[in-house]
Amino acid sequence: MPVETIAWKDGCIRIIDQTRLPQNLVHLDIREIPALADAVRELKIRGAPAIGIAAAMGMALAAWNFSGKDAEKMARAVREAGSILASTRPTAVNLFWAVGRMEKRLARDLHGGVDKIRSGLVEEALLILEEDRSTCRQMGRNGAALLPDPAAVVTLCNAGALATSDFGTALGVVYAAAESGKRVQVFACETRPLLQGARLTSWELRQSGIDVTVICDSAAAHVMKTQKVDCILVGADRIAANGDAANKIGTYGLAIAARAHRIPFYVAAPVSTIDPATPTGAEIPIEHRPAREISESFGVRTVPENASVLNPAFDVTPHEFITGIITEKGVLYPPFDEAIAGKIISD
Ligand code: MRU
Repeated sequence: MPVETIAWKDGCIRIIDQTRLPQNLVHLDIREIPALADAVRELKIRGAPAIGIAAAMGMALAAWNFSGKDAEKMARAVREAGSILASTRPTAVNLFWAVGRMEKRLARDLHGGVDKIRSGLVEEALLILEEDRSTCRQMGRNGAALLPDPAAVVTLCNAGALATSDFGTALGVVYAAAESGKRVQVFACETRPLLQGARLTSWELRQSGIDVTVICDSAAAHVMKTQKVDCILVGADRIAANGDAANKIGTYGLAIAARAHRIPFYVAAPVSTIDPATPTGAEIPIEHRPAREISESFGVRTVPENASVLNPAFDVTPHEFITGIITEKGVLYPPFDEAIAGKIISD
């Protein structure tokens, strides 16, 4: 991929500051946990798989920065970093999944002393990054088979290279289809209020030479009615055991419009986004973000001071509206509770 969203450089986490795109491609070198937590909270790094990788690298960073020979104290510092990072954003389960996996690795290496813990945690974080790469590729291949040639897809937010370590999830399907020779055109919903679609999706698709047209979120239903749209492709932040899927606010509306126009609606997500411990979408915690992101977006006040603002960052698409869930293990079809129990949990 032309973009490297996150990388580990011996005691430093290098990320692209996504709040500066598309005007400026700026890298940030992060060496401390509070700075990393702020970067996640402020969406300098964002997207479910990418924040999972960031949390894993953060725990490795806590071990890296620890000086001394007391393994128990180092373990406490690592766990503390894990809980700070886990408190940054509540919806994407990949964050908690990655913290849990790093805690397991810590427990495994604890008795080997500080050097063993440090090298083990760095190794585990890099393994998570590598696995995300191959997961993206496999998911892309699995999903690409669903697209006709030529294909027009509608997407929302950014579920691409900037949200993962490689190819992306929903956009991974687009990249894989394009690599296989299919002609793919993407309608990218701008994604109010922080414009991940307008700023990030269109930027990275153009970097890769993919045809992209940015539309207002409110234009999506009209585009489905008046243009030839073959499918909707979105990512997910958490998928419940029954297939209900949380994703960027506006996804649910897209799913309803897709159903009304008989257009297939696909969610592309790695298995680490499926949370069998959350029975239905009703139990998925929805992040609410500061009002100023709507009332003063990008520094310009557009809402009067005395009006209240509600800013949920995610919504839940009920499983009935989802045609298929594209994972690295294959495409899941309804009934999703059975597909998830059979193909995901039982492995
Ligand atoms: O608030 P964001 O930008 O982190 O929201 C991201 C999304 O909603 C993505 O669609 C989701 O994380 C999947 S990314 C592969």
